[in-house]
Amino acid sequence: MEIKDLDWGNIGFNYRITDYRYISNYKDGKWDDGELSTDSNVTINESAGILQYCQEVFEGLKAYRTKEGHIVTFRPDLNAKRMYDSSKRLEMPPFPEERFLEAVDKVVLANEAWVPPFGSGATLYIRPYMFASSPVIGVKPAAEYQFRMFTTPVGPYFKGGAKPITITVSDFDRAAPRGTGHIKAGLNYAMSIHPLMEAHRNGFDENMYLDAATRTYVEETGGANFIFITKDKKVVTPKSNSILPSITRRSLLYVAEHYLGLKTEERPVAFDEVKDFAEVGLCGTAAVISPVGRICRGETVINIPSGMEGMGEITKKLYDTLTGIQMGELEAPEGWIR
Ligand code: COI
Repeated sequence: MEIKDLDWGNIGFNYRITDYRYISNYKDGKWDDGELSTDSNVTINESAGILQYCQEVFEGLKAYRTKEGHIVTFRPDLNAKRMYDSSKRLEMPPFPEERFLEAVDKVVLANEAWVPPFGSGATLYIRPYMFASSPVIGVKPAAEYQFRMFTTPVGPYFKGGAKPITITVSDFDRAAPRGTGHIKAGLNYAMSIHPLMEAHRNGFDENMYLDAATRTYVEETGGANFIFITKDKKVVTPKSNSILPSITRRSLLYVAEHYLGLKTEERPVAFDEVKDFAEVGLCGTAAVISPVGRICRGETVINIPSGMEGMGEITKKLYDTLTGIQMGELEAPEGWIR
């Protein structure tokens, strides 16, 4: 199949309609067989649970075209599992994990022409999501749900690609200690839009959220997790019950240990320590690993030693190794590539 003719290096991280999406409906206590559709619109009742009380969960993963021309996805089983966990927390009927994987295969294959060429810097982003589709007016779970999965080709999440971003420590909190910060639900992102726009109005690219209980420890940005590199090249990442369990972060820790021979630590990271790190990165499916150049909190300005020019040495190695695995240039650990 011929690959679409786009200016792949400049597509940015934007929604672009592709040919097919997968749809399955939950009714009378069961999921139907599901099918591909060319209709990108959703028609639902005005009082659907998603519209009134935000009963929705989602995922994000990518399909890659390898050097040999294969089309692969990266650890989709972990997305299936995380969506299962997210659904449970919002009292939604989980979409079976095996069926999630089949849907990924179907939707990627159907949109094969939209998988960007190898080496273009772009990938095919896959967005699975599920929402309450039947009406509610009291606060309660809906009776019916729709699971959908669409694809859209994307470039780097942050404008400027590998150019380091600037971050401000937010005055807002992202998630309560026993709240919903650890699940992938639209509600966690809705509330982050105002703090994000405030950060933009103040000249920053992103927010760093601190733990809501003590405002001492680093959590995440809302759209990505933090990775810190110490001066002696240890990879450190925050441990918290209220951050999203990022698949990219987990994979980077493995890559750091097993491919690069680096020590790793997952532990609470106090904001006061941040000034001592050599490199800082943001990681996630969308962000991959994006370097951070400066972090500000009020009058405190922390210039990360790796600077505002490009990626630091370890960040670059992590990026090259992870994307090398994803693009089939490096051998992947068992079960990572589908
Ligand atoms: C992802 O990394 O896939 C996400 O869902 C984050 C979102 C901000 C794009």
